[in-house]
Amino acid sequence: MKIGIPRERKPLEGRVALTPLAVRDLVTDGREVMLETGAGIKAGFSDEDFRAAGAQIVYSLEAVYACDLVVKVKEPQPEEFPLLRPGLMLFCYLHLAACPDVLAQLLEKQVTAFAFETLTVSGRLPLLAPMSAIAGRIAVQIGMHYLQQPEGGAGVLLGGVMNTPPGKVVVLGAGTAGSHAAIMASALGADVWVLDQSEAALEALHSQHRSINALRYDERALAMLLPDTDLLIGAVLLPGAEAPHLVTRAMQDKLPRGRIVVDIAIDQGGCVEGIRPTDWRQPIYWENGLGYAAVTNMPGAVPRTSAQALSRAILPHVRFLAGDDWHSDRAFRSALATEKGQVMHPALRS
Ligand SMILES: NC(=O)c1ccc[n+]([C@@H]2O[C@H](COP(=O)([O-])OP(=O)(O)OC[C@H]3O[C@@H](n4cnc5c(N)ncnc54)[C@H](O)[C@@H]3O)[C@@H](O)[C@H]2O)c1
Repeated sequence: MKIGIPRERKPLEGRVALTPLAVRDLVTDGREVMLETGAGIKAGFSDEDFRAAGAQIVYSLEAVYACDLVVKVKEPQPEEFPLLRPGLMLFCYLHLAACPDVLAQLLEKQVTAFAFETLTVSGRLPLLAPMSAIAGRIAVQIGMHYLQQPEGGAGVLLGGVMNTPPGKVVVLGAGTAGSHAAIMASALGADVWVLDQSEAALEALHSQHRSINALRYDERALAMLLPDTDLLIGAVLLPGAEAPHLVTRAMQDKLPRGRIVVDIAIDQGGCVEGIRPTDWRQPIYWENGLGYAAVTNMPGAVPRTSAQALSRAILPHVRFLAGDDWHSDRAFRSALATEKGQVMHPALRS
């Protein structure tokens, strides 16, 4: 089994799917690993590091896609489309509900594609969680930065100082991304409110972090909070499906000017009505006095941290896929997005 690892093509994406440490394990298992030159550079791993771990360095994307299994971070980009082919196994983040062009390619080229983000083990999403944790934390960093007046924001310091009130942060979703955002904002001293439809998710967060206000999601509760919100973070998820539009345009109008909306769920289409995806070249745009940040690969900005976290999470699954028959494996059946020109994940069929 040959495993190919390409250099990521998404703008300013710095992650590489597997680190040299992981490659060494795969090579020890008897796999051949082909890494495109420069794939690890932004994450701090040189070709030499990978070569020392047993990888072969290849100098074209074609050589990577000639492998039996391609393991990468983000969904294939247009440059990669012509290299997709029947029988190829692809394992990466796909977010197909928000990427119909990629879905059409995977179907047309009859790729057997597995999505990191839907791979389920004991009801959890272990390959999404580490990146969600990172994205949640970055969401707060983005908010803090753009709330500064020279960046176009209202000039609010989220943590406040003595004798001045802190900024207010509202987070939609008390799952992995939302919890990490809330905990980080709370640690800064912000006044944090988290809304979710799941009492269990709210309880899990609030029981550990009493300073975080946890509210069952409903439109009225959100509408009440918005008029003095400084940073609104969207972090809801319906696994595999498009995100629900919880923040309508009318609700956005309630936010004071100069405030920031970060929609982490943009990779699933976004939970803020009308929001447009951005990338790290220009992470934010301003409209009607509000800053909208909707980067679809947020962890790509901290590739040293993210690549190590991602590689550690995916390695056992890559080893399994490379050595065993995935057809009878529940985790891989939950990750299967397309096979033989058919849509296989139920959330993509509706
Ligand atoms: N932009 C990026 O770079 C990036 C990176 C990682 C994750 N993400 C995205 O972040 C989002 C959150 O991921 P996660 O791992 O935290 O998911 P999660 O499953 O851990 O949490 C999602 C939460 O949303 C809640 N929810 C779902 N529908 C709701 C609704 N209608 N009203 C209120 N709450 C609702 C769920 O109850 C759950 O607690 C996903 O869209 C994921 O793809 C984006």
